[in-house]
Amino acid sequence: MKSKKAKESLTILTDTVLPGETNPLNNLFGGELLARMDRATSIAASRHSNCICVTVSVNHVVFTKAVPVGSILQMEAKVSRAFSSSMEVFVDVWKEDRLTGNREKVNEGIYTFVAVNDLGRPIKVPQLIPESKLEKERYISALQRKQLSLVLSGKLAPKEATELRALFE
Ligand SMILES: CC(C)(COP(=O)(O)OP(=O)(O)OC[C@H]1O[C@@H](n2cnc3c(N)ncnc32)[C@H](O)[C@@H]1OP(=O)(O)O)[C@@H](O)C(=O)NCCC(=O)NCCS
Repeated sequence: MKSKKAKESLTILTDTVLPGETNPLNNLFGGELLARMDRATSIAASRHSNCICVTVSVNHVVFTKAVPVGSILQMEAKVSRAFSSSMEVFVDVWKEDRLTGNREKVNEGIYTFVAVNDLGRPIKVPQLIPESKLEKERYISALQRKQLSLVLSGKLAPKEATELRALFE
């Protein structure tokens, strides 16, 4: 199976925030943001694998900056690493000022997808080639995040998480 470059999975979704998508403070509702991130990252995973992909885990979403109604919001999703059947996908969220065009990063999320066949069983995906500095950094650290996610979900014994243990030794 031919490896693919990280940039081949780049997925950009641009949309605005409507009144029905906000909390009582007129800022984007957290669940709405998660849904938009899931949509962008799942397309990136499908672009990398050319398969049906299902979300298996969502890591590290921090709501640090509110996004007011009327904002222009852009999701930039890209596969950061492919394993056997699973892919880690980063999504960077940018808010764009309607009048000045200035962009500010307001959020970031890390999603993991599994490529599946028609029966919903995992299938192999192409390996990923990181090129830029950021792509390489995210590629290298992805194995630690995978092991942490597997430990937290009870699928990997902490003593088997070699990459995580190396952090503390
Ligand atoms: C995703 C699913 C197919 C995985 O099935 P499974 O029997 O657990 O398969 P495996 O244990 O072989 O895991 C498959 C891959 O997922 C990875 N994985 C499983 N749980 C994970 C977790 N919590 N975090 C990170 N990776 C995980 C495994 O490490 C494996 O990766 P690899 O093949 O690249 O090494 C199954 O759990 C499922 O169908 N879940 C529901 C998905 C869903 O409905 N999502 C929401 C809507 S899209």
